[in-house]
Amino acid sequence: MKLFQRLSMAIAIAGSLATSGQVYAELTQIKAGKLIDVVQGKVVSAPVVVIEDGIIVSVTANGKIDNTARLIDLSDHTLIPGLMDMHVHLTSDANKHGYKRLASSLPDVTITGVNNAQVTLMAGFTTVRNVGAPGYADVALKRAIEQGSIPGPRMFVSGPSIGVTGGHCDNNLLPPSYNVKSGGVADGPWAIREKIRQHIKYGADVIKFCATGGVLSKGTKVGAQQYSQEEMNALVAEANLRGLVTAAHAHGNDGIKAAIKAGVNSIEHASFLDEEAIQLALEMGTYFSMDIYTTEYILSEGEKAGILQESLDKERVVGQRQRDSFSAAVKAGVKMVFGSDAGVYPHGTNGAQFSRMVRFGMTPMQAIQASTINAATLLRQESNIGSIDVGKSADIIAVKGDPMENISLLEAIPFVMKQGIVYKHD
Ligand code: ARG
Repeated sequence: MKLFQRLSMAIAIAGSLATSGQVYAELTQIKAGKLIDVVQGKVVSAPVVVIEDGIIVSVTANGKIDNTARLIDLSDHTLIPGLMDMHVHLTSDANKHGYKRLASSLPDVTITGVNNAQVTLMAGFTTVRNVGAPGYADVALKRAIEQGSIPGPRMFVSGPSIGVTGGHCDNNLLPPSYNVKSGGVADGPWAIREKIRQHIKYGADVIKFCATGGVLSKGTKVGAQQYSQEEMNALVAEANLRGLVTAAHAHGNDGIKAAIKAGVNSIEHASFLDEEAIQLALEMGTYFSMDIYTTEYILSEGEKAGILQESLDKERVVGQRQRDSFSAAVKAGVKMVFGSDAGVYPHGTNGAQFSRMVRFGMTPMQAIQASTINAATLLRQESNIGSIDVGKSADIIAVKGDPMENISLLEAIPFVMKQGIVYKHD
């Protein structure tokens, strides 16, 4: 079946069920060769998973099949919880960077987001955290997906990333006469608190901010801190007050440490880690979300896509350093989640990062846990998603063969179910 046919079928099913008010009313059972139990960290043989109304109602090893219920036979497949990517930008097009991106309007990037949401779901990612989008386009996408109007992953969204004037989360491409300023710019504790309140008003459920400079922004020093400790403290305190999870873009050590001290829930990128930063993260229980695949795309395709020369120069320093830091953090036992920064590179290829995570120090089980149960816990959603367990949403994918032996299987996912609805079955 062609992709669009499959999609329209899934939409038709979701739509008709939604309008009839009886969502996923039938009983479905999946019989598989293996199942990855990410909570126990082990592989279960010959599982049978029963799903009712989009919720997992039983999981048994060597379970019996009920002949009266719908059966999905995946006997030569391994079931894995739906993958979760904690760092994406669905509204970004990987072919348009730097000045090329300036030509896109808010409606343009919103439509880009609709396409990327489909592509991401079809790649097996049933949940994403979108950490930075203009004009609350991410909120609109999330709502359309929840209403069943378009197919896509479950979304947690930040609205525009919060940051200092002229920092990584601002837009510094044009001269002052254009008066361009990103929607997340806020300087000083009270301006930051007001920005968070505004984001919540318009639908954000995560707070993303820039603690340091970055690779892809013009004129920022990748290692230098941008928000002061006082500002980060206020930001995290305000987000906590309102019950929101926080994520800090941070490459340089000073910014990483300041964000951890402020109590941030996850450090994004975490490139220049030293021993002290790793110890602080262990003490505070901070998650690291390290996009260690991106560097390959930036250095091979970046120039064509419009990435600035200065950014390519920065990447040549950051890429390898970040991979070394990743190995050190994994070895030290820091809590890790899967975060790709897809949008910098093409959506739908998020899974390319798994093999790098294994190459740079994780076991296949750890890499899968990072993108399932750890991510769910970071989002405080571990009672709803993140593992194939009774009472959780039936967000289940499958690969043919055993990902413990070949982690690259996660680069092309043949079976995708989200909330009990099959979106893909090749
Ligand atoms: N959005 C990030 C930045 O501009 C991308 C960093 C990509 N490079 C890397 N080695 N992870 O800073």
